[in-house]
Amino acid sequence: MQVSFSLGQLPDPDKMLSFICVVFLLSGHVCGISLRQYLNVRSRVIEQELEKQVGGNLNLTEEEKIVNDILMRWKNVELDESFKNPSFFNFSKHYFSYRDQIKNSKVYQIIRRMPKGAALHIHSTLMLSTDKLMALTYEKHLYACLADGELDLQFSRLPPQRPCSFKWILLSELRERSNNVTRFDSELRKYFTMVTNDERFYDKDINYTWKKFNKVCKTIQSLISYRPVREKFFLEALNEFYSDNIMYIEIRSGLSRLYELDGRVHNQTYWPYLMQRLANQFKKEHPDFIGIKLILTRSRLRSVNETLEAAREIKEYLPDIFAGFDLVGQEDIGKPLSDYVPTLLEAKKDMKFFFHGGETNWFGTSTDENLVDAILLGAKRIGHGYALIKHPDLMDAVKKKDIAVEVNVISNTVLSLVRDVRNHPLATYLATDMPIVISSDDPGMWDSDPLSHDFYVMFVGVASKKADLRTLKQLVINSIRYSELDNRGKRSMFKIFNKKWHCFIRSLITLHKS
Ligand SMILES: *[C@@H]1O[C@H](CO)[C@@H](O)[C@H](O)[C@H]1NC(C)=O
Ligand SMILES: *[C@@H]1O[C@H](CO)[C@@H](O)[C@H](O)[C@H]1NC(C)=O
Ligand SMILES: *[C@@H]1O[C@H](CO)[C@@H](O)[C@H](O)[C@H]1NC(C)=O
Ligand SMILES: *[C@@H]1O[C@H](CO)[C@@H](O)[C@H](O)[C@H]1NC(C)=O
Ligand SMILES: *[C@@H]1O[C@H](CO)[C@@H](O)[C@H](O)[C@H]1NC(C)=O
Ligand SMILES: *[C@@H]1O[C@H](CO)[C@@H](O)[C@H](O)[C@H]1NC(C)=O
Ligand SMILES: [Zn+2]
Repeated sequence: MQVSFSLGQLPDPDKMLSFICVVFLLSGHVCGISLRQYLNVRSRVIEQELEKQVGGNLNLTEEEKIVNDILMRWKNVELDESFKNPSFFNFSKHYFSYRDQIKNSKVYQIIRRMPKGAALHIHSTLMLSTDKLMALTYEKHLYACLADGELDLQFSRLPPQRPCSFKWILLSELRERSNNVTRFDSELRKYFTMVTNDERFYDKDINYTWKKFNKVCKTIQSLISYRPVREKFFLEALNEFYSDNIMYIEIRSGLSRLYELDGRVHNQTYWPYLMQRLANQFKKEHPDFIGIKLILTRSRLRSVNETLEAAREIKEYLPDIFAGFDLVGQEDIGKPLSDYVPTLLEAKKDMKFFFHGGETNWFGTSTDENLVDAILLGAKRIGHGYALIKHPDLMDAVKKKDIAVEVNVISNTVLSLVRDVRNHPLATYLATDMPIVISSDDPGMWDSDPLSHDFYVMFVGVASKKADLRTLKQLVINSIRYSELDNRGKRSMFKIFNKKWHCFIRSLITLHKS
């Protein structure tokens, strides 16, 4: 085995001695050292590994250490139990089979209280919980077309003119006619979420899950294209993020064309404008909320030129919230980035990129190679980067260029990339202190907290057993650091974050004493 440590990391002579021995030991040579020396070297190897991981060189205050002890006690209880009896280990099962149990976890409860900084990979139509979506189906003038297992919706005074292979009927009428509203709503709910208790769906392949994903997405979109409902949707979503202790969101969104009851359709800059207005309104009511930025997305199947044109228009019209541009959709079936290189090279001059890349299990395919283009085209961050681990040179490049990878663990499991999250590449990204942030992609789609569930799965299911409060804190710091806020914005966010963090630590100590 060849081991090459960088000498620069081990400057003093004492360490050099152990460094040499480590090399010998790891390369299978006998070092001729005593047992005591061996154990010293061994513990240094482990220590060094811990120092190298995300958060490894943070130093905790005395108060933070108390909280860390509490946190790690609970984490160890959960892990030790499963280690002895692997059938208790929920993280190797489908997320839907244990999602409901998570709220009982003490670790989760701590994470839920923790200030989590920024959510940097969030899609605008899938950021609200299913309960809140269901409440929006009680709005007036909502017509439903329920045919062939698909639900299409539209707000209108009269039955919509759009074709329906059955018949447009007021949802309120259907609900009334059903005689049992509880049952009606629990059936209706299935159109608004991927979550199911039916285990037969847990082993479906990626084609099935994406088909289901797109179907739910379409139904939700039909509900929230009505301007007044979209306003409620967005404010409720901000509320849910805020309640999950998130201070700032970078939202990926397409160009929704919102309509009014009289059928009038707004132009393509209206929705970004509305987002900005509502976020400012929310900020006024919650001064410790920093705000939002927009990353304009377009389907991989549409014309990139057209999207870039729209992006430039919004950038000019709303410079405060415009961050950049991305392509979305199931990566395996969309066109690869390489198809658009000339256009994107040109656009690079005035446009920041936040490409989805490597959200695939197919090593060596054009989808997998999207990562190459994302990096060469100078992406500021990469969405998912799930396949990055198979490309050591690209891993180096990402680290050198400080391109953050937005990891969405739960999304990756639900969308059939990985089942047992211990095998998620995030474990390696954490161990090697890659520039990463934790996000949730589409929390509404799997009825999860905006960030807490993803942090919980990452912390207990993926990270080292020894990863502690420092890992959590560093990931929150990363979320601010890799955001598109300018330096002034980042400074003021850090200031608010530090205060919140202090309160969080204090409140846990108080809670624990009582
Ligand atoms: C933590 O402390 C160590 C040693 O005291 C120091 O070398 C290191 O720079 C500190 N880390 C930070 C992030 O301040
Ligand atoms: C795992 O899930 C089971 C139910 O499926 C639950 O009883 C148990 O408490 C969960 N374990 C943890 C550590 O959350
Ligand atoms: C309505 O449906 C729910 C769920 O299917 C069921 O539990 C309940 O008993 C039903 N109520 C009546 C009055 O039939
Ligand atoms: C879009 O609509 C807004 C007002 O709703 C208006 O200010 C803007 O000029 C319109 N943009 C275009 C390109 O028509
Ligand atoms: C897109 O724009 C580029 C120049 O920016 C041009 O060369 C290319 O032909 C355009 N493609 C299409 C399909 O219009
Ligand atoms: C699965 O998806 C791939 C990629 O879109 C497609 O080529 C293939 O035909 C699909 N397979 C089935 C059975 O639908
Ligand atoms: Zn995404």
